[in-house]
Formats: sequence, structure tokens, C-alpha cells
Amino acid sequence: MHRVTIVGNVSKDIYLRLDKRSNQFETDARQVEWLDLAFDGSTHNYYSRVAIYGGASISLEVLTRFGLQANISGTEASFQDGTFVSRGATTTYRYLLCKDDAVSYFVPKQSSPTQWQRPESEHPDWLYIDCSANLTSQLSDDILDYLNEHPSCKLAMFVCTNSNQYALHTQKLAQCADFIITNTVLRQPHPHVATISQDHIDYNGKRIDWSLNEKGQIITDFSSRLAIGASLLAAIILGKSPTEALLLAKANVESARLSGTCNLDTLNNAICGNDYQVQNHKETNTMSEIEQNAKQLMTRGKGILAADESGGSIHKKFESMNIPDDERHRRDYRNIFFTTPELEQYINGVILFDETARQHADDGSTFIEFLRRKGILAGIKVDQGLVNFDNSAEKYTQGLDGLPERLQEYYQMGARFAKWRAAFEMNRELKPSDMAITKNAEILAQYAHDCQTANIVPIVEPELVYDGYYTIEENASYTGKILDALFAAMHDQKVQLSGAILKVNMILAGKQFEQQSSPEEVGHATAEVFRQHIPRDLAGIVFLSGGQSVEQATANLRAVTNCGPFPWPVTFSYARALQDPALHAWQGNNDNADAARAAFKERLIANCAALHKQ
Ligand code: 13P
Repeated sequence: MHRVTIVGNVSKDIYLRLDKRSNQFETDARQVEWLDLAFDGSTHNYYSRVAIYGGASISLEVLTRFGLQANISGTEASFQDGTFVSRGATTTYRYLLCKDDAVSYFVPKQSSPTQWQRPESEHPDWLYIDCSANLTSQLSDDILDYLNEHPSCKLAMFVCTNSNQYALHTQKLAQCADFIITNTVLRQPHPHVATISQDHIDYNGKRIDWSLNEKGQIITDFSSRLAIGASLLAAIILGKSPTEALLLAKANVESARLSGTCNLDTLNNAICGNDYQVQNHKETNTMSEIEQNAKQLMTRGKGILAADESGGSIHKKFESMNIPDDERHRRDYRNIFFTTPELEQYINGVILFDETARQHADDGSTFIEFLRRKGILAGIKVDQGLVNFDNSAEKYTQGLDGLPERLQEYYQMGARFAKWRAAFEMNRELKPSDMAITKNAEILAQYAHDCQTANIVPIVEPELVYDGYYTIEENASYTGKILDALFAAMHDQKVQLSGAILKVNMILAGKQFEQQSSPEEVGHATAEVFRQHIPRDLAGIVFLSGGQSVEQATANLRAVTNCGPFPWPVTFSYARALQDPALHAWQGNNDNADAARAAFKERLIANCAALHKQ
């Protein structure tokens, strides 16, 4: 049976149905009627007074009635035989005054802290933060810690207007959520979100109307949201389709009474006997071209080859080996990689430089076409290198001018993804400034937006350069900042994350720092930064090798894998760590091409093996 732990506050709702004729309402200047409440029975009269448990008890009730094993964190509260048993649950009182059709709330100003206890033995399959929770930053951190340690536990969350939805900690949690229910517009789009409004519920491109049409039932706005949210979640946990989930949620909230919600059998009967309309809200729910290509690029167990060194970088590589830097040698060098036998078993995509994208394979086809026939996607580096900010040692990446036109041409040539690198150096004197972080994030986001407009998957690459002097903690902190700025800018540019890939450095101490990080340290620090700063709906994450030795890059990749699973596919997109042994074997002489291919293949095998958790 599925276990769900609810995080929320239990309230005791006192519904008073007032008798207008025998109560002395005072009317204020705004024509609002007030009643002096003394609760001694003398100053007011009511037809009926009902006290019921509300808040998290509603979620508990709904989930239990759907047949799930539910509890409220930090309490022994349970729902048994049709009754809520409140053992250990702190309750807050809410008074609901019902006069004619109107309901007014008298709610305590301060909502009490939400009880939370880390599950120690019986770990739930889902945590559900419902809309009654008082989500502090400490509570959010504790929940995030728990989720990091228990990756199999999924998170559902009700992000509502009465919680501080824009608080950073709420956003961080929402990013990790597998399913979000909300009555508002989310700041960050999320792929699995159900939206509840006054008269309809939207989920996964479908919409259903709902209403509390019987005036007498006095179910409040708050209680109905709780009932809808928990019904949707229960249906999803039970593997129901989005349409079924909507039907069940509508049937449940519309039949809810003060005495409670319905069980699954009753709801199924209600659905069969009613003519409920579910409308298609969006045109289709099929994956877009960029989503499909991003998915293909992130096919698990394989990586991406970066063979996109700019003219300057390849010149340095060749010069160090006394290899002539001319077009033929550059073409022959890249040809070695592309003609390595069974390349497609290890590689989903290859990033090319403009010159290579226009060169030809031995059979006369373009390299792009040659790779495509092997089932490998070709991508293109589209940035035009780094330049200094005015009067600054820091750099930004240029190349936005004319980018939309260039992207159109690359698409025509067959490229299906692109790459843009921003670089941040860090040493004793120089730390990435907020200005450089923000500016580069904005440029990367603009580039990503342009790519998606041209149906090209953007790889956004903010690199904290390994060759520097800094601790692993400093790397984590600055990479975190850089990623936050990047995803905020991508959100502003409305970049579709499910059609975008992040290329990033691992979290490790700088190359100049005395104490180098062990693979275990790199694995844990990288996993933590990813979980805290990268939205779940991103298509995937790839690593650059950044000047690590070939063995180091593989060992660190393995260590990261071992800290998984992650919500995204995570793999390699190395240049140096895949190419260097082949370059040394080749030495500019095509007689050594087979030896170079063998050296390259060795790195492919080792890095793909490092993608399997041990
Ligand atoms: P390295 O793996 O050599 O760092 O190169 C990856 C890359 O594409 C840098 O932009």
C-alpha cells in the first residue's frame, strides 16, 4: 500500500449558522455587518453550531478514504472508521460565521508552527505539503534534507496564495516537487501542475468545471481546496489518468459535507452516474521537437562529445604537439572521432565548431549528415568567445548579434542543438561579481530563447573555471549563485526547460588549491548543489571536464553517479578528457589513426561505465 506523510496544520473549524433576525449586527461605514462575539450564548444566536476538524485532517481523510496509508507528520493523528482521531495534533481554532449565503472567517492572526518529524523507520512513498502548512525556511530545509537522503520519496506540494509562494525556500521546495497543486500562477513553470480556480480545475491539458452548488453545505473555500488537492494527489498515486483524477476531484468536492468526503467506491459510482464534462484545454500534449531532441541527447548510459574547439583552442592543442594547424589537419583530427567504430553506442550527440560543421566525411557527406546516419545528433558552438567587461578582469561571452539568422542556417544544415559557454574565473583576488553573474546569465538566457525559437535545443554552459585557487565550499557557493541567476534569467526569457540542457563544472576545489578534492567529496558536493539549484523539469545535465586529468574526470563522474539517482539524466560532455589520449596517439599522422581511435574508445567505455551506479 502507498504511504503518504502529510505536512500541514490541523484546525478545529467552528461553523456557526447565524440567525439574522435575533442578532444585533452592527453595520460599519463600508456597510460591512459585524457581530460582537462573546461566545456566552447571550449576545448572539445561531441555528446550528458544528465543530469539525479541518486543515490537514481533510487531506488525511481524503487520502485514507482513497485507500492510501496516510499520516500527519509529527502527530499520531489518524482517520479510522469514518472519524478523525487527533492524537498529538496541535489544533488551531477558526470560527466560520455563516449568515445567509455568506461565510466570514475569524482566523487567528498567527498560524501556529507546522509539526514535522523526519520519518525514521517507515519511510513514506510521498510527502504531501498541503495548503494548511506554515512553511518556514527551517522547515523547508529539513524537508529538503530528508528528500536528498531519501531520493525514492516523492514530493507533492500545494503552493497557495496564503503561503508565501515567492519566498525562496518555497520556490526551492517547489522545484523539487514531483507534483504541484496550486490556486495561483507559479513563478517557475513546472511540468506536473494542477491549478484550482474558483470554478474549474486544470491538469495536464484538461479542464473540468466545479462548483459548490448547494448553498446549505457550508464547505469553505479553504476546505474545498484541500479536498480537491488531496483527491488529485490520491488519484495520481493510484495511477489514474489525468481525466480520471479530475473527475474524482470534482465528484469528491461537490459531494463533500460537513460530515466528510467520499470513499473511492462512492466516487466511482457518482462518476458513472453523472455526465461530467472534461474538456481538452491545450491542443495536444505531445512533445515538441526540441523536447524530443533534448530527450534523445540525454538518452541514459551515453554522453556527448565536445569537438567544438574554436580556432584559437585547436591551435594551442596542435601547437603543443607540433601538428600543423591547417584545415586538412583539423578535419582529419575530427574525422578520427567520428569514424570510431560503434561511436553511437557511447555518444548521443557531438558538438561541432562552425568550420567542422561545413566539412565532409570520407564518403563525401557532410559531417552532420554522416553523424545523423549513425543516429547521433550534431550540435554547434554558437558563442563567439570571451571579452572583458569595461575596466574589469571579468569576462562575458559575445555572439548575440545576428544569432537568430545563424541559428536558422545551422538548422538548415541539420544541427539540432547548440552550445554557449560563459566562463567565471576565481582565485585569491578575484571572485565572480554579482554584475558578471547576472550579465552572463542574461546573455545565456537570451541565447537559449533564440535557440528554442529556431527549434534548436540550447546547451547553456556556465563554467566556473577549474584552473584557479578556491576551496570546494567556495566552488559550491559560487556555482549555486551562478545557477540561481541562470535559471531566474531563463524563466524571465520563458525558456522551456524540458527542451534545454545544462553543461556545468563539477563542484571541486580549484586546481591551484593545496588540497585537491577526493571523488567522494566531489560526488556529494555536486549532487547537493544540483538538488538545491537546478529545477526538476530541465531535460538534463552534462559535465565539462575543465582541465581535469582523464582519469580524474572519469572517477569524479562515477562518484557523482553514485550519489544519484537524480531527477534529470546526468552525463558527460567532455572535450579534453575524451580527446587528449587520442591526440597524443595521432600526433598529426594518419598512420596512427587506428591507435587514436582505440585510445578514444577506451575513454568512451570508461566514462559510460561511470554512468552506472555501483
Ligand atoms: P572540456 O571537457 O575540455 O572542459 O571542454 C568541454 C567544453 O565544451 C568546454 O566548453
